[in-house]
Amino acid sequence: MTHRITLIPGDGIGPEVSAAVLRIIDAAGVAIEWERFVAGAEAVDRFGTALPDEVVESVRRNGIALKGPIATPIGGGFESVNVRLRKALDLYANLRPVRNLPGVPSRFGDIDLIIVRENTEGLYSGLEHEVVPGVVESLKIVTEKASTRIAVFAFEHSRKHKRRKVTAVHKANIMKKSDGLFLQCFRRVALDYPDIERDEKIVDNTCMQLVMNPYQFDVLLMENLYGDIVSDLAAGLVGGLGVVPSGNIGLKAALFEAVHGTAPDIAGKNLANPTALLLSSIMMLHHIHESAAANRIEGALNNVIQARKTVTRDLGGTASTSEFTDAVIASLDNK
Ligand code: NAI
Repeated sequence: MTHRITLIPGDGIGPEVSAAVLRIIDAAGVAIEWERFVAGAEAVDRFGTALPDEVVESVRRNGIALKGPIATPIGGGFESVNVRLRKALDLYANLRPVRNLPGVPSRFGDIDLIIVRENTEGLYSGLEHEVVPGVVESLKIVTEKASTRIAVFAFEHSRKHKRRKVTAVHKANIMKKSDGLFLQCFRRVALDYPDIERDEKIVDNTCMQLVMNPYQFDVLLMENLYGDIVSDLAAGLVGGLGVVPSGNIGLKAALFEAVHGTAPDIAGKNLANPTALLLSSIMMLHHIHESAAANRIEGALNNVIQARKTVTRDLGGTASTSEFTDAVIASLDNK
């Protein structure tokens, strides 16, 4: 069966890491017809919008997309393409598994966490305005509907993957109404999952606890902004953003992407590490029921990284993007 998948290679190192991932998936024998699109600054220049409608329509039609990093202007310019895609496609769950990759130096070993982030509202609703000069208001939106469905997602995912505990991360001691509602929905949903332990923690304490003893956590559920920050913190426990994947999941579509940026300092130099996008594509392959290929690619990636002979500079090696990619493909062939 040939899958049809939307591909947004992205800016900076995006095209290089995407090309590497496509080569590896192809070598693993998964038949995919890619529909390629540009988004971000290049799309603004060519089409007058950072996210042309045809990109969203393609993901809607195919139900699945892989995306490289896209540069977002700071403090002005166009709205983040990532945020717009999540909203347009209602990709309400951001899923960030955090695990050690064998051979990657990190502060902790044997980490196995899953972060589930509400992806559509909170302070990312984009509702900001100047009340009077010198005073800006930014609205944090929390709804019962979105809080309930993300809690259901977290518990369903936990049950499916045999996880033992879901911790809701919040600041309901201060934001009594907004985070209070998030927590109420979590508690209500938890009643339907007596087989999974329910836990709650305030977000600042969670950050400290994660750094002191991450093993006490299993699945962490949180609203948008906390999820953004805590998931990067968690990535730091296992070696950083270069070695963790992410998926944005909705009822009708899913988009998988690396969480690092466009790395303008090394773009176009064949130095980028494609591991994060490759790990995200492994999540994608599981999602489209190509688990055998996903497991083969993961095995090959682990072999190459663990051997440490052909790794990129960010992992302490000297290999180029293409040499690393060749090594993963060679390791696939050896299986
Ligand atoms: P960055 O992640 O692009 O770079 C930070 C450092 O990590 C740089 O030294 C870079 O060379 C290195 N790095 C990142 N990815 C790497 C990889 N795959 N292999 C080897 N080294 C890698 O973060 P920065 O500089 O804050 O952001 C640059 C641009 O990326 C900004 O325009 C930002 O808006 C965008 N960005 C996009 C994201 C997305 O589309 N998901 C996420 C984060 C940032």
